[in-house]
Amino acid sequence: MTAVPPSTPPAKPPKPAARPDSVSLWRYLKLFRQDILSAQPARLYRAWMAEFKTPFFRSFMINDPDLIDIVLKKRPGDFPKSNRVGEGLRPLLGNSVFLTNGETWERQRRIIDPAFEGGRLKESFPAMLAAAEAAALRLKASADGTPLEIETVTSHIAADVIFRTLFSIPIEHRVAAEVFVRFRAYQQAQPILNLAAFVPLPRWMPRIYPKGTRSNAAHIRRLIAGLTEARLAEIDAGTAPPDLATKIMTTPDPETGVGFETAEMVDQVAIFFLAGHETSASALGWALYLLASYPEWQDRVAREALDHGTEAFSAITRLRITRDVYRETLRLYPPVPMMVREAGCPETFRDRPVPRGSQIVLSPWHLQRHERVWERPDEFDPSRWQTDAGKACARTAYMPFSAGPRVCTGAGFAMVEGVLILAHLLRRYRVELVPNKVPQPVAHLTVRSKNGIWLRLTPR
Ligand code: HEM
Repeated sequence: MTAVPPSTPPAKPPKPAARPDSVSLWRYLKLFRQDILSAQPARLYRAWMAEFKTPFFRSFMINDPDLIDIVLKKRPGDFPKSNRVGEGLRPLLGNSVFLTNGETWERQRRIIDPAFEGGRLKESFPAMLAAAEAAALRLKASADGTPLEIETVTSHIAADVIFRTLFSIPIEHRVAAEVFVRFRAYQQAQPILNLAAFVPLPRWMPRIYPKGTRSNAAHIRRLIAGLTEARLAEIDAGTAPPDLATKIMTTPDPETGVGFETAEMVDQVAIFFLAGHETSASALGWALYLLASYPEWQDRVAREALDHGTEAFSAITRLRITRDVYRETLRLYPPVPMMVREAGCPETFRDRPVPRGSQIVLSPWHLQRHERVWERPDEFDPSRWQTDAGKACARTAYMPFSAGPRVCTGAGFAMVEGVLILAHLLRRYRVELVPNKVPQPVAHLTVRSKNGIWLRLTPR
């Protein structure tokens, strides 16, 4: 293999170009369909609040930390999750915790949360480590410097982590492999961008989804139902492994004493798989790209992993540099770039009236690159997390996992997973940029690269 000269690290990691300040509604909808990040004007990186008026709905993007605090933490009940975004995901996710509101949502969280508590993460760790080791072994064959599309690799790893931690099966298992492939097809059809995402349709009106969306969703749900029913039988026989599925299926609601029915469990498994693997795959892909772009940080991560090892759960807390790299990745490329809530009653925000039913957009993407909050907002600098300024911003202007009672269920899980996988892979391999292959961030379900993320892998 001839040595390839490394390409020059970018001054700043790639950021989508913003659209002009004023465009027609139709142009906006067209841009929005292509990519919700480049469909936004540059002023959102400086504004505390911005209003968008359309004939169908009014929406307000809020970047003011005090307002975000009200919506997510102080009065979350007055700002339920918007049904608009859920429309596209409902065929797959049914009545999952990601889409519900009110009493139903509260009951679901009471049953799910104990499985993800900090103390229980340790129990999921051996399965995560097994997935990390399987990935390191799989990559051996590709670690010869040939350009490799890394998002495909990280999707595979993150899906493996979810199946191993949830159902104690590896991604090679027949059902796991089929769910993985069908999820990708579902997502590529962009169901989230169906008409109902823009226009409030009455409940009785039939929804139109891209071709194959419904049948694919039904197929995935049948596969998941098979896994769930088999697990129920194992629980009854006393032979179930002590993984997340068993924990959730044997936890009764502490208030009513009733647990999930099989159908409701299928809804939850679907969201764990989707929310849990898409997001981590996105973050890991960008993290590897950033480490290839900034080799001095990559060397520090590798050295730290060699010093502390990655085999013990306790070692993960000592991987401080790796954690700061992952945090900085989640700041620059938050996998969930925007979240939408709905004003349940009329509000006044920054002296402006916000009518009932307005869409309230919370944007980790804009907040975490806000020019009036962050120093050098578009630069990759993991050391900022150890400074007073960085720590202050972390409290008020950083929400890759959202915040408040509706915070991501898997936040703690994802931070262990991300740090472990990065450290475990970088102990073995070096990642390098491929000249002239700059990824282009776009947001569909999560923030991905339009043209993939191409890297070279070689043994360290
Ligand atoms: C880097 C990885 C991850 C990121 C950045 C992330 C981010 C988020 C965000 C921003 C939300 C809130 C969405 C909203 O309110 O509209 C969310 C919700 C959720 N996430 Fe994650 N997530 C990650 C990993 C995971 C994992 C590993 C799991 C489970 C295994 C998970 C399960 C969930 C669930 C069930 C919800 C819905 C919570 C609710 O609405 O009450 N996530 N996630």
